[in-house]
Amino acid sequence: MTQLKVGIIGAGGIARGRHIPCFQRNEKAALVAIADVAEGAAERVAREFGIPAFYTSYQDMIDKEGLDAVVICTPNKFHAPVTIDALGRGLHVLCEKPMALNAEEGRSMLQAAQESGKILSIAFHYRHKPNARAAKQIIEDGELGDIYMVRVQALRRRGIPSWGTFTNKEIQGGGAMVDFGVHLLDLALWLMGSPRVQEVTAVTSQRLGTRPNVNSWGPWNYQDFQVEDHAAAFLRLPGGKAIQRLAWMCFRCGSTSPPTAC
Ligand SMILES: NC(=O)c1ccc[n+]([C@@H]2O[C@H](COP(=O)([O-])OP(=O)(O)OC[C@H]3O[C@@H](n4cnc5c(N)ncnc54)[C@H](O)[C@@H]3O)[C@@H](O)[C@H]2O)c1
Repeated sequence: MTQLKVGIIGAGGIARGRHIPCFQRNEKAALVAIADVAEGAAERVAREFGIPAFYTSYQDMIDKEGLDAVVICTPNKFHAPVTIDALGRGLHVLCEKPMALNAEEGRSMLQAAQESGKILSIAFHYRHKPNARAAKQIIEDGELGDIYMVRVQALRRRGIPSWGTFTNKEIQGGGAMVDFGVHLLDLALWLMGSPRVQEVTAVTSQRLGTRPNVNSWGPWNYQDFQVEDHAAAFLRLPGGKAIQRLAWMCFRCGSTSPPTAC
């Protein structure tokens, strides 16, 4: 069997927790190399998982390893430039969510994929869950009729990710919405047949992350919490349809209630 030669860019939490173990279990892929700009990070992870090669420069990795595809597991700010570069070098790309920091970057990534003829996929893995697949089938079979109003609610009870750069606006682009809410929004749009959104009205707020720390996912500097911990939006879709959307990061450990009731 021909195996897809894969390299990983960014040796942090999601690479170690998900991508590396999954690619190493998949006989259709050979995970041959990993790159991370932080000195020693790729080497540590390569040794931990038995990945043959490691680099501090992803460009060097692409130049030397003869890869078919890369998985981009960097902070969000680097999703667009690294994706466009890798596609331009003739590789397929699986890029972590959120796709990009803004629509303009996203469009550039799509254009790069079209021009290269390679596959660009964004890691919206909720679409592949069995319950999502079942819901999609039920909707496509017409059992729910014409869906015209969807309410999406994403509440992360585990708290705010305290490692890496998750609370840094410049590097991540946002908080609850782009980090977690984006999965459920993508799922809702996909289940509705991917309609083109006509208009969005939204508000965001910082009411939890700026408080002294009671986070179940470890401490961060609450006096320098730069992203939103709550986002609410109304999305107008063609044909008088709509999505109402809420996303929270709740940092009250173990709570099963929405933030207002904590
Ligand atoms: N699909 C999901 O459910 C899911 C879950 C967690 C994280 N993510 C996404 O994965 C991405 C990474 O998250 P994480 O938790 O692994 O973060 P992390 O901070 O643990 O790791 C990011 C790593 O990328 C490295 N890096 C930064 N810039 C780089 C560059 N230009 N080239 C190579 N390496 C670079 C950093 O040194 C760091 O080791 C984020 O976009 C996040 O949104 C997705």
